[in-house]
Amino acid sequence: MPDREADPMPTPPPVPEGVVWVDHPLVQHKLSVIRRKDTVTGEFRRLVREVAMLVAYEVLRDAPLEEVEIETPLTTCRAPMLAGKKLCLVSVLRAGNGLLDGMLELVPAARIGHVGLYRDHDTLQAVPYFLKLPNDIGERMAIVLDPMLATGNSAVAAIDRVKQAGCTDIRYLCLLAAPEGLATVRAAHPDVPIFTAGIDQGLNAQGYIMPGLGDAGDRLFGTK
Ligand code: URA
Repeated sequence: MPDREADPMPTPPPVPEGVVWVDHPLVQHKLSVIRRKDTVTGEFRRLVREVAMLVAYEVLRDAPLEEVEIETPLTTCRAPMLAGKKLCLVSVLRAGNGLLDGMLELVPAARIGHVGLYRDHDTLQAVPYFLKLPNDIGERMAIVLDPMLATGNSAVAAIDRVKQAGCTDIRYLCLLAAPEGLATVRAAHPDVPIFTAGIDQGLNAQGYIMPGLGDAGDRLFGTK
């Protein structure tokens, strides 16, 4: 039993311009289970995959369509299908990989890029160590995936690299965001919309999102 009663649920901070908070009841319910410290690795991973899929619907709401001719068993008709090159999912290692599976269930033919960044625990700055993106990412929509938007430093660094590779249509998907991280990313990349399942109160002294869900990478991969 906790040694004190929990604080009442805080009112979520305002949603800044350019940020989409997916407040669907299913998403909110699953997010609360994800947050619980007793949620075991397998369930945590499954729920992260499901929330990624549900948030992805919103990310792709304005994806361009084109009419193509198709044959049904009864006739020929014109019908809408996604236009342009397959999109590119960019996972920010390592926790971004937890969002990939859910996204791939919706868009199985997507290309996948990886950006390796770790957070220096003293400075909280993002330190790059790996980058592999499709050569033609400039012709694709890219969705950058990282479950936790905390200080925003890693998100800005990841988006910088995707832009340097020539991509001009970028969206950012996370599970939880802190207001500080939202402000940092929006200031550095105002052209990149952010989609999140939750906006929390802020960061603690170690740069963790509060109340948050802990270390997303450790919880996804069972490394603690
Ligand atoms: N990264 C995490 O995994 N959790 C946080 O709360 C912040 C950054």
